[in-house]
Amino acid sequence: MRLPTLSRAGYPARMAIVSSNAGSSKPRPERVLDTQPTPEEATVRVDEGLRPRKLADYIGQTELKQVLGIAVQAAQGRGEALDHVLLYGPPGLGKTTMALVLAEELGVQCRITSAPALERPRDIVGLLVNLQPRDLLFIDEIHRLNRVAEELLYPAMEDRRLDLTVGKGSTARSRTLDLPPFTLVGATTRAGSLSSPLRDRFGLIQRLEFYSQQDLEAIVARTADLLQVSLTPEACAGIAGSCRGTPRIANRLLRRVRDVASVQGQDERIDADLVTKALSMHRVDHRGLDAADRRLLTFLMEQHGGGPVGLETLAAALGEDPTTLEAVVEPFLLQQGLLVRTPRGRMLTDAARIHLTEAA
Ligand code: ADE
Repeated sequence: MRLPTLSRAGYPARMAIVSSNAGSSKPRPERVLDTQPTPEEATVRVDEGLRPRKLADYIGQTELKQVLGIAVQAAQGRGEALDHVLLYGPPGLGKTTMALVLAEELGVQCRITSAPALERPRDIVGLLVNLQPRDLLFIDEIHRLNRVAEELLYPAMEDRRLDLTVGKGSTARSRTLDLPPFTLVGATTRAGSLSSPLRDRFGLIQRLEFYSQQDLEAIVARTADLLQVSLTPEACAGIAGSCRGTPRIANRLLRRVRDVASVQGQDERIDADLVTKALSMHRVDHRGLDAADRRLLTFLMEQHGGGPVGLETLAAALGEDPTTLEAVVEPFLLQQGLLVRTPRGRMLTDAARIHLTEAA
């Protein structure tokens, strides 16, 4: 089975999305601040020309770039495949982008898939047997791999060997296929959910951090440049301040601001007032909180005097699924020091009280 070579637009033939996560049960994003890609963003089309291609163009994540830069150079020097890499951290921070950058730096292809798309053993087998020497295989949401796929990966990662069972019942035979040297880049928002045998097979385990205001301003300025949008520095800072430390959101907000600017004929040079106006249409405030965040914080303050309130109670009251609340809404509030998790439940901080009072 040969995989098709994708178009040369955006990424050269080095990148191939070999399977989508159409089978994923992830909730569809409804919020402009959602860290999950929209269906369009998920297929890389929207951000295609915006992603940095080289490590030198990748803004922020200094430690990660340093560690991976050295590993790439060392692997190149030895003519070997890069060691397997596990990238973990909140969504939208550039795990896929980093995998593509690594492939570009190594001069190899990057095959992109996600664990929910690897349902049947033949899905992962098909990917592995089609790899060229030193290629990258990127598996998103790797914590969601099923057991069969995971067990096929162990010898593949460790000994470049694929152990297959051919046939059924009494005629079943085991066969071993040799694989070329390759690099598995796994991405997860939940490193803790990975089984230890899988985690232990990654030579490099790296966390992606939320971006600083300064790095985000640089990312917004870079994207604006690529989209040929003119922004004042204050407008850039406004978008950077509202994007929850997340480049994917920054770029999405910039597109929404650009929409408003062009419809209102104010796109010659976008200023901070226009950014505030455009973001408030999406109910996003200057700190990057949206209606769902404010609802959670307001509920804690007004109904429970600031807490503590258990996750299940909170989720039920807000009509949210507890897992979504924990994985999607809470991380940013925790990171911003607006919410704390205690053994007795979630509690509001003084900073959140101040923010809500200001916003009221
Ligand atoms: N676009 C999105 N993330 C980026 C990053 N980290 N550096 C440069 N451009 C980006």
